[in-house]
Amino acid sequence: MTYFLDIIYLIASVTFVIGLKMLSHPETARKGNLVAAFGMVIAIAGTIAMKGHDVAPIIYGLIFGAILLGTIVGWITAKKVQMTKMPELVSLFNGMGGACAALIGLIEFPGYVGQSSYMAVILAGLVIGSVSFSGSMIAFGKLNGSLRNAIRLPKYNIINTAVLIGLVAYATYIVMSGTGNAGHIYLLFAAALIYGIMFVIPIGGADMPVVISLLNSFTGLAAAFAGFLYGNQVMLTGGILVGSAGTLLTLVMCNAMNRPLQNVIFGAFGETAGGGEGDQGGTVKEVSCSDLAVLMNYSKRVMIVPGYGLAVAQAQHVIHELEEILNERGVEVSYAIHPVAGRMPGHMNVLLAESNVEYDKLKEMEEVNPEFKNTDVVLVVGANDVVNPAAKTDPSSPIYGMPILEVEDAKNIIVNKRSMNAGYAGIQNQLFFHDKTSMVFGDAKKVLTDLVSELKSMS
Ligand code: TAP
Repeated sequence: MTYFLDIIYLIASVTFVIGLKMLSHPETARKGNLVAAFGMVIAIAGTIAMKGHDVAPIIYGLIFGAILLGTIVGWITAKKVQMTKMPELVSLFNGMGGACAALIGLIEFPGYVGQSSYMAVILAGLVIGSVSFSGSMIAFGKLNGSLRNAIRLPKYNIINTAVLIGLVAYATYIVMSGTGNAGHIYLLFAAALIYGIMFVIPIGGADMPVVISLLNSFTGLAAAFAGFLYGNQVMLTGGILVGSAGTLLTLVMCNAMNRPLQNVIFGAFGETAGGGEGDQGGTVKEVSCSDLAVLMNYSKRVMIVPGYGLAVAQAQHVIHELEEILNERGVEVSYAIHPVAGRMPGHMNVLLAESNVEYDKLKEMEEVNPEFKNTDVVLVVGANDVVNPAAKTDPSSPIYGMPILEVEDAKNIIVNKRSMNAGYAGIQNQLFFHDKTSMVFGDAKKVLTDLVSELKSMS
């Protein structure tokens, strides 16, 4: 029987690895998700079937009740969530994972009192899981706007570091003393929850995607500790995969923004930087949709640069329609995708895949930058920071050093956004005042719909 369960765990672990690999490409991502979910289902079913023979029927009721409830809530939320709200959903789900790891610690602790190595594993899972849970809840609040501002106590970095050291010292004391006093473990649990809040609360709302990815890696680690405790290979593998994938994603995001992780955690990005209406001045040219339609209709190559505003406006379908009309008129259209365009990794790829844009039309930054000089029209839709030349030219800019899409090399630059307001980094963009740039103000969906009808009326 144990042998059979080991084989199930092995198969499940392999599906996690394959699923994760498949998630790295938009074409295979959906299937990858299903493959990994299948692995999780057989791991859970196998465990219940083969380890539950001496379990009271009421426990079965609780297990299946919880699975049913979780499935219904998860399914409905995931179906209903808007693409721009995805980081919120991830923070909520991640928080639940952290809470599970913390609860395992609370429940299992009394059974291992005096066994210092097991106690250490349990307390590590408990502390990390609790930090991940409360931190994710704060991140969720910041993303949905209920916790608007970053709250910073004076010298908050020093206070936070002191609390963290205190937490580790207290956990070490519990392990070394071998105490079975329940008061200690609940106090440690409460302190870890408070630390999670203190850790996330000073960080600006705009940095939450990076923080969530970091907390995700914490949850993975906490789950891996639980897997270690139970000697459960599939839990261990799953935890390690989540932990390492979360860490890598955090680093990839930081690299793509050219910001060290400590700057995200200890900095105050996007909140103190200047920006707003016409900060640096200059003349802004406007173009009408009908003039833009003529310009695009007679172009040979058009490059679309999608950004966060495209996602907010849900303009992915109409942009695909624009692409198809231009293609019919013999215009070559591609999309230039910046690695951190939008608010989550792969945001633009997922969004455009939703409207069936062909994958080979999505070009990555390194590939597309040399192509801008041969491009007649660049249409920037709801993007700002990812095309801001200050990243290359202004060492005092908070985004200095971030690789950008070099759209200023194109012959004509058209920017669609609703106003002259800043983007995520909170800074003005000199591209909008460039000689070659013309602005089309308005909601992306409305502007693109007007553009499409202008083009249709030209045939
Ligand atoms: P942003 O710099 O945030 O600019 C988006 C622009 O879209 C805004 O300036 C806004 O201007 C416009 N907009 C908003 N709603 C719109 C609508 N309905 N119609 C038309 N335009 C609209 O976006 P970006 O260029 O995609 O850059 C992404 C930023 O997020 C980067 O700074 C990146 O570092 C950061 N970030 C990304 C990630 C990931 S993994 N993607 C993670 C963390 C941080 P108006 O208000 O004037 O319309």
